[in-house]
Parts: sequence; structure tokens; C-alpha cells
Amino acid sequence: MSFLGIDLGTSSVKLLLLNKAGSVLRTVSKEYPVYYPKVGWAEQSPIDWWNAVREGIREILTEPQNIPSKVEGIGLSGQMHGLVLLDKDNHVLMPALLWCDQRTQDECDELSERLGRKLSEYTGNKALTGFTAPKVLWVRKNRPEIYEQIEHVLLPKDYIRWKLTGEYATDTSDASGTLFFDVAHRCWSSEMLTILGLSEEKLPTCYESYEVTGSVTKQAAQETGLHSGTIVVGGGGDQASGAVGTGVVTVGTVSVALGTSGVVFACQENYSVDSENRLHSFCHANGKWHVMGVMLSAASCLKWWVEEVCQLDDAGYAALLEEAARVSPGSEGLLFLPYLMGERTPYSDPNARGTFVGLTMTHGRGHMTRAILEGVGFGLRDSLEIIREQSIPIYEIRVSGGGAKSVLWRQILADILGLPIHVVNSVEGPAFGAAILAAVGAGEFAGVEEACGVMIKTVEQTEPIAVNIEKYNSLYGVYHQLYGALQDSFEKLSVI
Ligand code: XUL
Repeated sequence: MSFLGIDLGTSSVKLLLLNKAGSVLRTVSKEYPVYYPKVGWAEQSPIDWWNAVREGIREILTEPQNIPSKVEGIGLSGQMHGLVLLDKDNHVLMPALLWCDQRTQDECDELSERLGRKLSEYTGNKALTGFTAPKVLWVRKNRPEIYEQIEHVLLPKDYIRWKLTGEYATDTSDASGTLFFDVAHRCWSSEMLTILGLSEEKLPTCYESYEVTGSVTKQAAQETGLHSGTIVVGGGGDQASGAVGTGVVTVGTVSVALGTSGVVFACQENYSVDSENRLHSFCHANGKWHVMGVMLSAASCLKWWVEEVCQLDDAGYAALLEEAARVSPGSEGLLFLPYLMGERTPYSDPNARGTFVGLTMTHGRGHMTRAILEGVGFGLRDSLEIIREQSIPIYEIRVSGGGAKSVLWRQILADILGLPIHVVNSVEGPAFGAAILAAVGAGEFAGVEEACGVMIKTVEQTEPIAVNIEKYNSLYGVYHQLYGALQDSFEKLSVI
């Protein structure tokens, strides 16, 4: 008996078969392109997604021991905030606009000016270019002929659900990132739908992440090799599914994802927002809520440094990290601001830039590498401090993502955040979480917390070092002031 988790990422889809004990039986990944038709635009073809998912499922089921009859349930996870539009015949009307597409600043300004604090009352969040609602407004203004034909609005992973089950459905965690979802009441926001000119019939039915939303149709079974009738649960946005995949489902446990972007994610029993909506307030996949801060560049800062600036290959990472480990904490007064792609939390500013501050003749490449690792740590701390301000308890941090593989980076994080850093047995994150949600939906566990308790264990722990905590506390004070000091210059640079 196994459960299939499918995570529709931005560069590839990751599929994973999990057994009830929490062992990964097999993983498969299939890539597809992102199109950048103009600066700041990012699009994908939903047809490419389906082709990759279909092939991926076929491949994962080919192992003799994983015969399809043993797949008990499917969970979907995926990149959030994207806009998929279908017409009355279910044809894709235009390429999907992605979470990282930045074309909607005017629409965000329009929503913020028109609604003020009401936007947060309706949705729990503020208008950000990546979110779905401003994308709908952009289509209405710039592609009126397409807007007129909209019959179904879907999020990326829910297009795959439609292909598998024929149902138009989503889950509360992914719906939270649309800016037309009432996060507090876990339903679509009638006020926002009126503003967007969309009727609720055009939106998917909203389920909790562990609820069954439909089952595999005969046609999808033929295309994928799955058995028709296999259940498909709500699943979740990649961040909520990833948190389930690392067992971050109870208050006090916080997830730090050190991937392309950097995410700090804390569970909450009840809904709340911070007064300025610096954090996203979303529904969690366990039926509760969470807050989250998102840095747009995290492990990608190191990738940029190693591959673009130092022009090194994979082996170069180890060499540069070794150099950085020889430099003392604080990089001898050198700081790095990690805003290489602008920033989202705590400063939603597309014009913010990456910066080294404090260079002297004594600094070399090792200092600069270490400053990058530390700068990402300070950026994550910015989000953690807002979580602390809200009196949300934080006892333990679980780190995941590519950057978490570095022992040095884990120690830097423990010291900057002042908390023990745990690595758990599941490194596959969102696809693992989606498979757990499928197991809960199939009735194997009483709830998400119980399933995580059985399947997820800490395998490594890094303790903070007292003397380093002190040093980093002083440096964080300086780091924290730098954005404010440079904001005006960033803006001027963006128009030159
Ligand atoms: C979450 C977010 C990203 C995307 C892409 O708010 O923007 O996690 O879902 O991975």
C-alpha cells in the first residue's frame, strides 16, 4: 500500500511514493520550461505540466513492487498564486501567470488604494505582485477578450486535479494565496469576487487539505496507469505541504526552508494578522492557520555567487564553503543584503538590490562567501522577529531545502536565530507532505498531526553557540537598519 505525492514546482514536477511507515519507495522528477516573454513576466504552459505529470506517474508506477493497485491515494502540492484560466470547453485560455511574475504592480497599487485596511479584513493579506487577484485584474485590463471567456479560474496544482478527476477543486492553504480568499473564515471572499467581477461558480470548490476532492477518472487512468477510482485529496500550496512534510504542524515548531527562496513558517491554533501584514496569514494544511515570511532570494544568493560571480561548478561550492568556514562569525564586519530579486518580507519592494556593506582591504573571497550565508540568515531573522513580536511561541526550527545540506550554514542559522536547528528524515518536503495528506484522506491516520508523529523524526540537531549569538545580535542591529538607509538609492537605481 502506498500514497502518491505530486509537487508541481516551478522548474519541475516531483513525484514520490510513500508507504504508511513513512519510507519513500521511489521518487521521479520531470522538468518543463518557464517562459519570460518580457522583463519581470513569468509564464508556463499548463499542457506542459500535465504532460510531465502524466509521464512522471507512468514512470513511478513501472517498478514491479509499486503496482498501481497499491496506490491508495494521491495528494497534490504545487507552486502557489499562479493563474490558470479555462473557457467553457475547458481549453486553457492563455499561458499560466506564475507566482514570480511581477507585471501587476499597478493592479496592486489600485487594490491597496481602493481598499486600504479593508483588503486585510477581507483576505488576511496585502496586495503583492505575485498573488492571483492582481493577475485577474491585469487580464481584465490588458486581455479583455480573454477575460470575457473565463469559465474556470484554477491554481496550478488544481489544473492537474482537474485532469486527474474532472473536478474543479482546491484546498484552503493554496486558496489563501489568491487574495480573493477569506482566510479567517476559510471560504472565498464575496467582497473580493465582486471587485474582480468573478462569480463563485467560476472558482473551484474549496476543501481542507486532507479531504477527498474526487477520484481518478477512466480517461486519466488510461493516460497515467493509475487505477480509476483512486482518491485525490485537497493537498496544499507548496509551503503548507512542505511544512507537513517536515512535521511543522504544531504551535512552537517553525519551518525554515532554504531553497531558491527563503521561507519562515510558523503554525497557529487561531487566525491572526500582524498590524502591517508584513507576514502572510494563510490557512494551514492541518485545518488550522499559519503565518509566513518569504524572502525572494536565499540559497539562490549562494548559487549566484558560486556560479555567476566566481564561475565555479558543483565542486566549487565545497571549496568556497570551506573558505567561508575559516572566517570568524561576523565576516570581520562585512554584511550582505540578499535582495538580488527585490524582496517580499519584511519589505515588499521589487526595487531592493543585493549589496555588500563594509568591504575593506582585509576582506577576501572567504569573507564574502560567509557574509552571503550570514546575510540570508539575517533576512530570515527579520521574519522570525515579526513572528516573535506576535507572541507566537518558537521552540524548535526545522530546516529544509538545498541550503540545509551545508553544516556551516546550519550552524550560522542556529547562531543568528538563537535556536536549535533540526534536520528531519524527510528531505523531499512538499511531495512528502502531499503524500502524508493522501494517507490521512485515505483514513490511515486520525489527522495530520498523528501522521507526522509516526512518519517524521529529527535526524540531526545543531545547537547555537552562546558567544556567536552575542556577536550576531550586535551585527543584526546594523543589518536591520541598512534597508531603510538604502531604500531611496535602490529606487533611484531602478530608474536609471
Ligand atoms: C509562496 C511562494 C512560493 C511559490 C513557489 O508564497 O510564493 O513558495 O509557491 O514555490
